[in-house]
Amino acid sequence: MDVAEVTRNYLYLFIVFLPAMVANGSPVVFKGKNPLDMGKNFIDGYRILGDGKTVEGFIVGVLAGTIFGVIEAAVAWDTRYIAIGFLGGLGAMLGDVTGSFIKRRLGYKRGQPVLFLDQLDFALCTTVFYYLYDIEMNPISLLLIYVTIFLLHILTNRLAHKTGLKNVPY
Ligand code: CTP
Ligand code: MG
Repeated sequence: MDVAEVTRNYLYLFIVFLPAMVANGSPVVFKGKNPLDMGKNFIDGYRILGDGKTVEGFIVGVLAGTIFGVIEAAVAWDTRYIAIGFLGGLGAMLGDVTGSFIKRRLGYKRGQPVLFLDQLDFALCTTVFYYLYDIEMNPISLLLIYVTIFLLHILTNRLAHKTGLKNVPY
């Protein structure tokens, strides 16, 4: 294992995943009203997604990721970051929705915690988008990014709880 190479790629991936992290956190600040599943149930009788996934939150997430990508593009003087921001925002929001879809199928109510799925659903979906966009990803660096995102998610959610943004600390 080339430590210098793993470190370099880890730092690069951290910058690349930042728009997705910003996107994932922004709906918590701009809570929406209209549920994406329009209040409908799936064939199993449970909600398709639940009231925690709104149209407004989804749009805000994609926009926040894109705007953050534009800022990164300006700082790095590299237009690829605009696409990275959009893909990060969209990937994060689709992953977040997929996570909720899975949670509802497993019978968990809106807001009930599921370890790993809650913290990493958005990052996994974003990874697929970034892979398709040919972002260079070293498997070990990527694993370290997941560990970082997992810990950051727990930390920021506790902060959001303390500041009154969230009712629950996870
Ligand atoms: N949110 C939103 N629209 C989205 C995603 C999130 O409005 N597309 C808001 C909701 O107010 C949600 C909060 O952000 O309650 C926190 O998001 P998250 O933890 O992902 O949702 P949960 O309420 O925990 O629901 P779930 O159990 O489906 O994950
Ligand atoms: Mg939650």
